Amino acid sequence: MSTASLQSLLKGFTLHEDTLISIKTCFKRALQQGLTSEGQAVKALPTFITELPNGQEIGDYLVVDLGGSNLRVGCVQLEGSHKFSLDIHKWSLTETIKDSNNQVLFDFIAYKVGEYLKMTENSVMKQIYSESCQVTLGFTFSYPVKQLNISHGELIQWNKAIKCQDAIGKDVVELLEEALARIGLGHIKVGVLLNDTVATLAAHTYVDPDTKLGVILGTGTNAAYVEQTSRIGKLGIKREGIMLVNTEWGAFGDDCPSLLPRTPMDEDVDAQSPNPGKQIFEKMISGMYLGEIARLALQKALPCSALDKLLTFDTQHLSEVASQNFGSLDNLFSEGDQAVVECLCAAVVKRAAALCSASIGAVYELIGAPKARTVVAFDGSLYEHYPRISELIKSNLDKLCPGNSLVLQLAKNESIVGAAAALAAQPGQLRK
Ligand code: BGC
Repeated sequence: MSTASLQSLLKGFTLHEDTLISIKTCFKRALQQGLTSEGQAVKALPTFITELPNGQEIGDYLVVDLGGSNLRVGCVQLEGSHKFSLDIHKWSLTETIKDSNNQVLFDFIAYKVGEYLKMTENSVMKQIYSESCQVTLGFTFSYPVKQLNISHGELIQWNKAIKCQDAIGKDVVELLEEALARIGLGHIKVGVLLNDTVATLAAHTYVDPDTKLGVILGTGTNAAYVEQTSRIGKLGIKREGIMLVNTEWGAFGDDCPSLLPRTPMDEDVDAQSPNPGKQIFEKMISGMYLGEIARLALQKALPCSALDKLLTFDTQHLSEVASQNFGSLDNLFSEGDQAVVECLCAAVVKRAAALCSASIGAVYELIGAPKARTVVAFDGSLYEHYPRISELIKSNLDKLCPGNSLVLQLAKNESIVGAAAALAAQPGQLRK
């Protein structure tokens, strides 16, 4: 490939400051519209979580976390003094389960809850299995739901790769409780249902009370933040205090894709996805898509190269390339090709980080650009494994919001811890 064509591919992934500022402005407007009325691209879903943990809660909580790639079940022990420990088991969601129907999916979850309770050494959890007095669990659910309270939620749509269409419009809490009842665990009820971003925010508040945003950069992407209830116009209630809002920012641009500077590779990835035309912003940022965007770009840059020999090229490869450890790609490319792979893969992730900064900057400004330390808690495989991604995001934020008080922190596993922290923080919860 000529240097000029490589430069033009790279240019497609480069976002200038003016473009980023305009994305930040458009996103802020879209989020405001979401807070005001239903049916907007950025859904800004009220979560009805109005109490945050103070870090002193204690107790053992049963938790379930349905993510994009895995199901996790386990126990979170809140130890007080801002500390917690975990006993978590994880299972991959197979293609068969992702392509099935609601009963297969929720029976799988219920079965794994039973399996965990049977095998755990934790005595509180064992008791749940053997005694049938009512207990509540915390359910982290990484998909958009319409909630009217904290323990119910109607599924709006699946994203990422789950296709169990018959669950749409149904209450996912009922689906889980019915599945638990089918295997004799009807005494386990869902006490709190929350998005993974909301859970990350709640968990990190337990650790650091200055946390105001929870962001997931994993298979999918999204953010939640602490809003003043009185500013959530579509709730139609006048109430003081705060409420966490699940932005569902991945759908930004769905009503007007031209808001985002997409390349032909982005359009191809969207067209081949299970949900074409939806989650346009997410498809430019998150782990499920970045590897494929990079692969399509590399195919143009290096036709007939070693790339054809690869069965998969995913976001994990992007992290390997960036850490100068070609891992499973080692020795596949000539020195010259390797340099092309490095710069194209880096450009794809750099753009994702920049877009993520634009939306974080917009939320920060929407909450009044506070001068006080404002912590953003990040969970998700892309944030955890891609080298120095936090520096990329922070350096863009410093340009977009000069003098900001944002502090970015890794909140590893906190999307599951938050289910316990939010449960513990609800009034009426027993605290030992
Ligand atoms: C979902 C969000 C979720 C995000 C990260 C998106 O596809 O719509 O609800 O928070 O993925 O898991």
